[in-house]
Amino acid sequence: MLFKKKEEKDYQIDMNNIPAHIAFIMDGNGRWAKKRKMPRTYGHHEGTKTIRTLALEANRLGVKAMTVYAFSTENFKREASEVDYIFKLPKEFFNLYLKELMENNVQIRYIGHLEMAPIETQKIIQSAIDQTSMNTGLILTFAFIYGGRDEIVQATKIICEKYKNGEIELDDITEDYFEKHLMTEDLPAVDLMIRSSGEYRLSNFLPWQLAYAEFIFDETLWPDFDENQLHRAIAIYQGRERRFGGVLK
Ligand code: IPE
Ligand code: IPE
Ligand code: MG
Repeated sequence: MLFKKKEEKDYQIDMNNIPAHIAFIMDGNGRWAKKRKMPRTYGHHEGTKTIRTLALEANRLGVKAMTVYAFSTENFKREASEVDYIFKLPKEFFNLYLKELMENNVQIRYIGHLEMAPIETQKIIQSAIDQTSMNTGLILTFAFIYGGRDEIVQATKIICEKYKNGEIELDDITEDYFEKHLMTEDLPAVDLMIRSSGEYRLSNFLPWQLAYAEFIFDETLWPDFDENQLHRAIAIYQGRERRFGGVLK
């Protein structure tokens, strides 16, 4: 694919400084539906279209990884009817868009507790992962039944088991080693975290991986978030000075 060095759209994007990994907290589906006097589930339904739009655009821009927060471990506090509806969305999403994502070389991955989803949902997600595993374009990871603190506890348990079995020494446990045991495994560090709907918190999303990410909080409700907002966020990101604890030259 051929990219222009500077892309002329509503926002100027430097194609030489595209974030490698963008993470989205997809928030505001319920409020979007409420504004239209529709049930919350309608907002979730419309929100899935945004994932397709942004994945295709991120892929086109050369983003390596995009991770979307689709359901948190805390979201089980919601009404059963809403939770059940959300658990049916992967089937709808992949039925509609898997072919297109495949054609665009997108690889699907998953983080979270898939075993807690209904068996049909598990199968559809696993099938999408398997079918796209050789693709070399954007890695689109669904955080679904995911909690960041839980992820850290899970990684700790795996590592403790290895220590107990004598497979590793205490000094083998470095930051790099620990990171490989997180569900995100070998994904690049998150460069840019975008949360929609004007909420200013992480809600237990990727606490380790976001340690040095740039944060952008956008007022747009998730179903209305589109390429334009993505371009805006990338342009803002590119205007930031990332110092990683150092001093600017
Ligand atoms: C985000 O939208 C989707 C999920 C958390 C599953 P919400 O459902 O949280 O929408 P609001 O925040 O109530 O508007
Ligand atoms: C975070 O949104 C979880 C997802 C987007 C999947 P929530 O709407 O659940 O977060 P809180 O409850 O406002 O913190
Ligand atoms: Mg919300």
